[in-house]
Amino acid sequence: MRILVTGAAGFIGSHMAEYLASNGHIVYGLDNFSPYYSEELKQKNKRDLVKSGIHFIAVDLLDDLATILPNDIDVIYHFAAQPGISSNTSFEQYERNNILATQNVLQWSLNLESPLKMFVNISTSSVYGLKATSSEGCLPKPASDYGVTKLAGEQLVLAANRMNKIKACSIRLYSVYGPRERPEKLYTKLIKSIIEEKPFPLFKGSEKHLRSFTYVGDIVDGLARILDCMEVCNGEIINMGNDKAYSTSQGIQYVEEILGKKAIIETFPSRSGDQLKTTANIDKARKILNFEPKMSFKKGLEQQINWYKHTNT
Ligand SMILES: NC(=O)c1ccc[n+]([C@@H]2O[C@H](COP(=O)([O-])OP(=O)(O)OC[C@H]3O[C@@H](n4cnc5c(N)ncnc54)[C@H](O)[C@@H]3O)[C@@H](O)[C@H]2O)c1
Repeated sequence: MRILVTGAAGFIGSHMAEYLASNGHIVYGLDNFSPYYSEELKQKNKRDLVKSGIHFIAVDLLDDLATILPNDIDVIYHFAAQPGISSNTSFEQYERNNILATQNVLQWSLNLESPLKMFVNISTSSVYGLKATSSEGCLPKPASDYGVTKLAGEQLVLAANRMNKIKACSIRLYSVYGPRERPEKLYTKLIKSIIEEKPFPLFKGSEKHLRSFTYVGDIVDGLARILDCMEVCNGEIINMGNDKAYSTSQGIQYVEEILGKKAIIETFPSRSGDQLKTTANIDKARKILNFEPKMSFKKGLEQQINWYKHTNT
């Protein structure tokens, strides 16, 4: 199939694009190299993708896509976004990259040469709010600009689906980690600070937060399964993550054990909007996609540490 992956220079999108290309699909990867974090890292991911035969297109999703992108695409995996909860990110950045960008790629995808077979929207457990432990049918109560704007993007895609304009589904991901994890996220930041023997900033109380930490390879496997059952996935919202939750302090302990060194923890005031507990309810993903997270948490962290050492030393 001919597949477009948006946000392909980023953390999860780059893995998805590589996996699809290695399975014989013709893959177009798109990214605007947003300066939200190191462009150098994204350029490195792009070089890896190009080596894997992926056609890379540097474009902003708010550009005139019809003049830039191929119009014979079968499936879109839409990862591009302003991710994460951050006090350094303005509402306008979230609005631009999570709502307006989604609307623009969605509108473009309605006018392809042949109707799209599936628009896979990548959503987040943050749409549920401070506790993300329920099934897909529960009322979303986002408690951050990130969660609100991702929910709006999701609903734009699903509204087009309800109006029979497009085949689409939306997949809500839970705390993804692994090689290429964004530099500002927990484990990349922790690994860096332990190796460099520098203080590791931790928001007060967050050591007790419970998270469905999910290995990126498990997510890619689950998302690829959609291609085999597009009819069943059409119109659905599906949670995708690990249904075993670990506390952040357990994760920190594992990283310390693997590296054989203690973190120097520096505590900061707690951050509003941070989820207290996420435990992915994946009954639907199991039923529809036969999804089963396989990577053990400690082994996944070992993979991330190996990647970090390989790219930074
Ligand atoms: N990482 C997680 O734990 C996690 C959890 C839940 C959901 N998600 C979702 O998964 C997706 C990917 O997240 P990630 O962690 O890989 O983030 P990422 O920032 O590494 O990847 C997103 C990519 O999108 C690109 N991008 C942003 N705005 C764009 C625009 N207007 N036009 C073109 N490209 C643009 C960025 O440059 C970046 O490379 C996001 O939709 C995010 O909301 C991530």
